[in-house]
Amino acid sequence: MTGRIDGPLMRSGGHSFRGSRIAAAIAIGVAFGCVFALFYPHGLFVSSPAVHDFRIEKSHAQVGSLPCESSERVNMLKSEFVAVSEKNAELKKQIREVTEKLRLAEQGKDHAQKQVLVLGEQHKASPFGTVKGLRTSPTVVPDESVNPRLAKILEKVAINKEVIVALANSNVKDMLEVWFTSIKRVGIPNYLVIALDEYIAIFCQSNDVPFYKRDPDEGIDSIARTGGNHAVSGLKFHILREFLQLGYSVLLSDVDIVYLQNPFDHLYRDSDVESMTDGHNNMTAYGFDDVFDEPSMGWARYAHTMRIWVYNSGFFYIRPTIPSIELLDRVAGRLSREPNSWDQAVFNEELFFPSHPGYEGLHASRRTMDFYLFMNSKVLFKTVRKDANLSKLKPVIVHVNYHPNKFPRMKAVVDYYFNGKQGALKPFPDGSD
Ligand SMILES: *[C@@H]1O[C@H](CO)[C@@H](O)[C@H](O)[C@H]1NC(C)=O
Ligand SMILES: *[C@@H]1O[C@H](CO)[C@@H](O)[C@H](O)[C@H]1NC(C)=O
Repeated sequence: MTGRIDGPLMRSGGHSFRGSRIAAAIAIGVAFGCVFALFYPHGLFVSSPAVHDFRIEKSHAQVGSLPCESSERVNMLKSEFVAVSEKNAELKKQIREVTEKLRLAEQGKDHAQKQVLVLGEQHKASPFGTVKGLRTSPTVVPDESVNPRLAKILEKVAINKEVIVALANSNVKDMLEVWFTSIKRVGIPNYLVIALDEYIAIFCQSNDVPFYKRDPDEGIDSIARTGGNHAVSGLKFHILREFLQLGYSVLLSDVDIVYLQNPFDHLYRDSDVESMTDGHNNMTAYGFDDVFDEPSMGWARYAHTMRIWVYNSGFFYIRPTIPSIELLDRVAGRLSREPNSWDQAVFNEELFFPSHPGYEGLHASRRTMDFYLFMNSKVLFKTVRKDANLSKLKPVIVHVNYHPNKFPRMKAVVDYYFNGKQGALKPFPDGSD
């Protein structure tokens, strides 16, 4: 490429020096240079201006050593070379301009390429059975300015940028105690209680439980303290956003949960949201085709429907990605606009409903947790405790979500799995009384 650029200028130096011929040759050379500058910008990009200067100086030296020429002729040649030098300077200016345009173009290309890198490079499809779409989104860049005080706490508490988080006010003090006692017993260090009132903050402090108390002047928090369950649920999604913005993955946990193993040893971490299910068997937990029958339709009486039991919005692992944060924003937004909505229903609708006319669905990847490892209390009391094999397996957690008498059932779970009391689960009915 460099040769193409140097060629014309070199040739101007090698000619026999007769005024008009030289001028013509140089003009042609300059013209060629311009043409090449336009059509071969990459060549210009790599050749340095110093090379061109050298060519011109060499020509001057040869002019000075020519024998048998009148001084008039030499002067003429000199003035011609001044003109050529000026043209050369002009050409260099053009080169600089083209180079600058090229640089800007390269920058634009670079930006596009960076976007491609984020979205995944363009590839041809690999052979049948070997293609695999993306489900793991890149994480956001941590932004400490969102909440520097929380950032400091998380630096101490989190492990591998992961933390269990529970919100609690004084209404759930007894359950919270069973909750953190089980966590301590398993030996999980990375957990944090968001204390919604002073009482819980003091309770955590006196029990050596990591906690984070919100600033009292934060608007949404005062709503949560005076408001009911739904206001607290809305607050949950607002606060979670800060954790994700700080770059942490959160295992959000209700307090009616007993920990029996470290959940961080049982996560896949391949999806935006990884959640426990309210399902109680393979079909209800993982999805199935529920055939709806409409006999009046005759030949087409069977309509196939996709069914899955909802995700439990009281226990899910959420990675700090854009789709995750969008999910939190959408749920919090809807909870504030629709005060009578149930946070778990909203959470699931946002996660699962596809885009359709007038609606843009969320495109977050999701994974259902193993319902025997992350067990709800329906699975435990309806199935597991009566099954000789299943009752021997130790779940990771048990969530007493299906029963209103949470506290005694939590204690029974602790007695059964931790204290070896075989009969601890027996007194309770499958459902509520
Ligand atoms: C449920 O699914 C698991 C894994 O997906 C499988 O190993 C098991 O056999 C299934 N159980 C039933 C009853 O289909
Ligand atoms: C328990 O496991 C054994 C051995 O795999 C099997 O023979 C038995 O049928 C199982 N019992 C139940 C209740 O599933």
